[in-house]
Amino acid sequence: MAKILVAVAWPYTNAPVHFGTVAGACLPADIFARFMRLTGNEVLMVSGSDQHGTPIIFTALEQKTTPEQIAKKYHEINSKALAGIGISYDIFFETSHPNHKKVVQEIFLKLLEKGYIYPKKMPMLYCENCKRFLPDRYVVGICPHCRAEDAKGDQCSNCGKTYEATELVEPECRICGGKPVIRETDHFFLKLSALEEKLKEFINSKTYWRENVYLFTKNLLEAGLKDRPVTRDLEWGIDVPLPNMENKKIYVWFEAVIGYLSSSIEWAARQGVPERWKEFWYSGEARHYYFIGKDNVPFHTIIWPAILIAYDEKLNLPHDIPANEWLQFGGEKISKSKTKESSIFLTDYLAKYPPDALRFYLAMHLPEKHDTSFDWEEFESHANKLLLAAYGNLANRVLVTVLKMDGKIPPLNPEVLGKDEKELLALIENTRRAVEAHISKCEFKAGIEKIMALVHAANACFQNVKVWELLKTDKSRAEAVLHVFLRLLRDLAIMFYPYLPHSSEKLWKMLGYKTEICSWNELDAPLPAGQELTGIKPLFPKIEILRQETALGAKLPHLVVAEVVGVKEVPNAEKLYEIEIDLGAERRKIVSGIRQYYGASELVGKKIVLVANLKKAKIRGIESHGMLLAAEKSNKLSLVVAPALQKGTVLLEGGNGEVSIDEFKQTKLWVKKEGSILCLNAKLPDGREMKFEKAIADREIEDGTEVR
Ligand code: MF3
Ligand code: ZN
Repeated sequence: MAKILVAVAWPYTNAPVHFGTVAGACLPADIFARFMRLTGNEVLMVSGSDQHGTPIIFTALEQKTTPEQIAKKYHEINSKALAGIGISYDIFFETSHPNHKKVVQEIFLKLLEKGYIYPKKMPMLYCENCKRFLPDRYVVGICPHCRAEDAKGDQCSNCGKTYEATELVEPECRICGGKPVIRETDHFFLKLSALEEKLKEFINSKTYWRENVYLFTKNLLEAGLKDRPVTRDLEWGIDVPLPNMENKKIYVWFEAVIGYLSSSIEWAARQGVPERWKEFWYSGEARHYYFIGKDNVPFHTIIWPAILIAYDEKLNLPHDIPANEWLQFGGEKISKSKTKESSIFLTDYLAKYPPDALRFYLAMHLPEKHDTSFDWEEFESHANKLLLAAYGNLANRVLVTVLKMDGKIPPLNPEVLGKDEKELLALIENTRRAVEAHISKCEFKAGIEKIMALVHAANACFQNVKVWELLKTDKSRAEAVLHVFLRLLRDLAIMFYPYLPHSSEKLWKMLGYKTEICSWNELDAPLPAGQELTGIKPLFPKIEILRQETALGAKLPHLVVAEVVGVKEVPNAEKLYEIEIDLGAERRKIVSGIRQYYGASELVGKKIVLVANLKKAKIRGIESHGMLLAAEKSNKLSLVVAPALQKGTVLLEGGNGEVSIDEFKQTKLWVKKEGSILCLNAKLPDGREMKFEKAIADREIEDGTEVR
């Protein structure tokens, strides 16, 4: 029995978690953690919300709220969604938590005291227009290493390399688009140069790492490490615990990785055994696994080990860092398909489909060695053809046959076993060994493929033995066959458990077990003859994704983001404006009755939401082509706007043809509070409910107010 720390990348809390995060980090970590627990290891699985840094600041700007609110809002959404898909964290912490800050500041000061952090003046990009320094995402430019465009100030998302903002080619301020100048500023540097030898030693024994992770890190070390600034000129983040540092914060990557330690400490405290984290961090028998996406590699293979070594050499360093490539969306396959599903956010998914269907699809497509792509059509066919038809129906056929007898697990007389069943038993054993080996080596895709191969072989075998005929001719052999197949189901429940915990628990209960699945060793136990099956029902539902055809019958409003470019008062109509709008591909005029609520100059530049397929209407002789959306209640009115979206963005696909006002009214629209923000919600004539996170009320208005 070993102690295993399963450390999972902390998602930024600036957006709802999407499938990419699940496939890249959370799901493999969960498969691993569940397997390790089942095989008798003590697992501590930690993660949390990464709440600081410029990603959160920018989302707050876009949504016209504060970073605090954004951090809180998405922490709530994401904790729920990740629990919903069954990610079994022991703690899901927050970097804005005071106990995290305490650990970070203590480590910062200790490194300062030891000379691993030191102050230095440095040249930094400064925007004279915005009057601010431009750290990290405040600047975009061309990557100095791979020449990719759109590189951030600290790391290129294309090649993964880190650098100083001043190294960027053709940098631009992301706020105003202006050309920054260089100014001196004081910062604290992490003395990576002094840690290089120790890091090399650490990496030398890591030849068992995934090749890309190992080589990337080795290359960085061979090129030589430069000291990196670990503070920023920012207003959001963890304070530098020193005097006269009001305008500086600790660099988000320096503190977020410390979350693995701070959350372990917090976990122990919450368990009421405050020293217990040490068993995981100081004991030589504990092993640490970090589950991350490939852009996180340098921070986990260099920066984090550097901090750990500098702080306390006795702390455990990463044992393995099985970083993944990308899960892609919107490849050619997707655009060709007729599916209407487009959301890849976990919350939207969970509102419609069961968790194991996605876990299954993603496990079969983990981007372990190269990028993979998500496809809704394929998701559906996996759920129906593999989960339901192959695995679920096999279970159902076996269980129902037994139900038709006496509903109890029949005895096994090994003497009457035929060749088919014997081969199946051998295959179960081989599969089990293979799965153990694969999961232990973090080869999760190969693991589930092996289990699926067993399912397919078992289906063929079940066809072959024709148990329903045996039941008439040879009862004892029929019982032995059914016993073997029930055992197969039991073993599938256990082997699938790390991947598909929800359906495994269901199957387990159907087989008559009263406890939960808790040990891999149960695979060695004989199946208890006489145990009564309970609550037999289909293991998986049929999944139907939304297709274009289903929506075509209903008349839907076509909702598009449009920018207001001009506003005129309509003569002799004190309530009306003639508004010129830009939809990206075209310009239009609309006439709107919001003059008593919005000044003309207030409107210009706003990104409104337009019902673009509304029948044209002549109002006071002006042709109005479309209608803007606003929430109105008791003499208050707020426009629905989408400041974060590009003009022309389609929020809701209206299909072909126009809608009349009456048809439009069949879609119910209202604003609903999400944290502190009022987002647009819709109920469509076909019964679907939707929520548009990025279309928001731009003024305070009562929660639930109708939009039209
Ligand atoms: N928030 C980062 C990302 O989404 C990951 C941080 S991992 C941490 O890329 F452990 F450092 F927090
Ligand atoms: Zn690059």
